[in-house]
Amino acid sequence: MIPQIELTGVNKHYGAYHALKNINLTIDKGSFVALVGPSGCGKSTLLRSLAGLEKISEGRMTIAGEDMRDAPPRKRDIAMVFQSYALYPHMTVEENLMYPLRMRGTDKAAAKIKAADVAAITGLSGLLERYPRQLSGGQRQRVAMGRAVIRNPKAFLFDEPLSNLDAALRVSMRKEIRSLHDRLGATSVYVTHDQIEAMTMADHVVVMKDGVIEQQGAPLELYDRPANRFVAGFIGSPAMNFVAATGAGGGRVVLDLPGAPEISVSQSVETSRKLLVGLRPEHLKVAHGEEAGFTLPVSLIESTGSLTYIVLGFGQSEITVVEQGRERVQPGDNLRLTIEPGLVHLFDPETGRRV
Ligand SMILES: Nc1ncnc2c1ncn2[C@@H]1O[C@H](COP(=O)(O)OP(=O)(O)O)[C@@H](O)[C@H]1O
Ligand SMILES: [Mg+2]
Repeated sequence: MIPQIELTGVNKHYGAYHALKNINLTIDKGSFVALVGPSGCGKSTLLRSLAGLEKISEGRMTIAGEDMRDAPPRKRDIAMVFQSYALYPHMTVEENLMYPLRMRGTDKAAAKIKAADVAAITGLSGLLERYPRQLSGGQRQRVAMGRAVIRNPKAFLFDEPLSNLDAALRVSMRKEIRSLHDRLGATSVYVTHDQIEAMTMADHVVVMKDGVIEQQGAPLELYDRPANRFVAGFIGSPAMNFVAATGAGGGRVVLDLPGAPEISVSQSVETSRKLLVGLRPEHLKVAHGEEAGFTLPVSLIESTGSLTYIVLGFGQSEITVVEQGRERVQPGDNLRLTIEPGLVHLFDPETGRRV
């Protein structure tokens, strides 16, 4: 695989503020990479550094094998796809699409032909004469993408392009952007704070926090083997539950819950070692028989029809369980929960690292 974009040891300082810390990232040609993390973690800074809108303070950056660290934006041949409101309101769809080519000096007839091609790929063929105000949100988003596509860039960069759309449109645009990426054989870097968007759209997910890459990999790799407590809690919805615990020797762990219940884990833990146990809501099962487990009182029940969310309280904390179908339980009921040893995640409470 040819790396289309490669960052090595990249740091970015805004004055005294260290916004990107030792970023190492390889983006393969044709891949769809999502940068995800809470607000302020440096996603936009990283994307803008790729585009050349920010200058990195240290490190190496290559695009298609060429050193681009100090190249101005227009030399990088990368397209930033802005939110749909960045369209020119006084121009038709066709004129909006032609604009990047006209700016580069392409003559009108050639630009018109190219605009028709791009309109066909992006599903805008019947809308070329319309103005942005005469389009739906989804159609405007397609024009914004078409305007990036028409330049045939080495990579597409998206910075939260769907954050202003309503929930239903966001889901359909997610599929549309990914399918356009596939049809074009494009290389895309997509910034979002929404882990579901990152997980469903990308081949490779990069989780950031405070300017650091906490973990990167295939979506399900991150889900199944989070490297630390932050990634474990960030990826997955509802979020992973965390319970303090103590090793009891062999594959046994005592949970810091009423009655000090013991659960089995699939690795050996030293006696007395302090741990943080991570339990995914869908891995906890309500026990109806005599299985070993732990018992907690129900504090809240929510049903979506297909799924039931049960929140169980203990002290100031709570545990969320997701069950398929319906559960006949009520607040105040005591429920016994069980979990398979292989589905328990263990973290060090000091460092947060996976044990
Ligand atoms: N031009 C700037 N000058 C100073 N600080 C900045 C500038 N741009 C961003 N920052 C800071 O860098 C951090 C990362 O910002 P940003 O990359 O926009 O985060 P994200 O896109 O993940 O929300 C934030 O704390 C932000 O306040
Ligand atoms: Mg941002």
